[in-house]
Amino acid sequence: MSSLTVNLPQNSYEIAIASGNLSQLGSQMQQLNLGKKVLLISNPEIFNYYGDICLKSLENAGFEVFKHLIPAGETYKHLQSIEKVYDTALANRLERSSTLVALGGGVIGDMTGFAAATWLRGVNFVQVPTSLLAMVDASVGGKTGVNHPRGKNLIGAFYQPKLVLIDPDVLNTLPEREFRAGMAEVIKYGIIWDEDLFTKLEQASNIDSFQTIEQELLATILIRSCQAKADVVSQDEKESGIRAILNYGHTIGHAVESLTNYQEFVHGEAVAIGMVAAGKIAVNMGLWTATEAQRQDALIKKSQLPIEIPSTLKLNDILSTLQSDKKVKAGKVRFVLPTTIGKVIITDKVTEEVILKALY
Ligand code: GLY
Repeated sequence: MSSLTVNLPQNSYEIAIASGNLSQLGSQMQQLNLGKKVLLISNPEIFNYYGDICLKSLENAGFEVFKHLIPAGETYKHLQSIEKVYDTALANRLERSSTLVALGGGVIGDMTGFAAATWLRGVNFVQVPTSLLAMVDASVGGKTGVNHPRGKNLIGAFYQPKLVLIDPDVLNTLPEREFRAGMAEVIKYGIIWDEDLFTKLEQASNIDSFQTIEQELLATILIRSCQAKADVVSQDEKESGIRAILNYGHTIGHAVESLTNYQEFVHGEAVAIGMVAAGKIAVNMGLWTATEAQRQDALIKKSQLPIEIPSTLKLNDILSTLQSDKKVKAGKVRFVLPTTIGKVIITDKVTEEVILKALY
């Protein structure tokens, strides 16, 4: 069992990582004095796998538990789904001291967090992530929200959970493609924060499948990635500065996702493509060595992740999509660029010419 802390001025919380943790959900929540009523929010598929064990654990710990299921997928990540959560909360008379528990991937976590942030002006919230991406990224740090018809995650709130409970065993039912997509975010932490994690990934015999990855390495990956995220979020909870480094690979990644209508790539795959492009930009600007960029690209390939921007995308469309990204500041596109493995800078000094050169 590993336990990390996200240290924040007001809302510090623990990330508990251990095999078999799902059955400890109730007892771990009990220690946090979270009130009596719990609303467990999941999607039908995840609930079929892991709902009962969570319900039982919560009931055994003395909680009065209700459930609410939202159909799987990004298409349901909108305000209408949140209204239905409110209906269930109202029907079961949830109170301010009650807790919403997110059992699922990033979509369920983001929606549950947003519902928790807004119902009764804020009830308790616990994250039980079931995808690798949610474990190492989405469940930690308090970004919650839903999509607007005009853009992803445009509606939301920073709202920290009281606990993040990670059980690596649940990755057994995660589709392999999703496992690899989560690995893109792990590689990201190696580049932006943790050179030693990067080297461990390079040395591993394989990192592209839950079925074959060494369990000790997986534990290290979870701990080091969550530690990196916790370190960054602890320094800058609401992304007024350093937290933006977590967006490494996301600038071009988001453009690729958006221009392919979120149909061709899952998020981590787009981030992988974005990291390769950002690496090229950094090399072209003389910030990063070609040798280290090649090491990054090799690791991405080792994870069976895509590295190329689809040739069907028009370069001008990519440039104009970059301009409409919500991370644009004062009209300038900001890039996170590596200077060495384990360190990055944030800059708005990347010219269109340099971007275009990296996209060829
Ligand atoms: N996923 C980026 C962040 O949490 O800031």
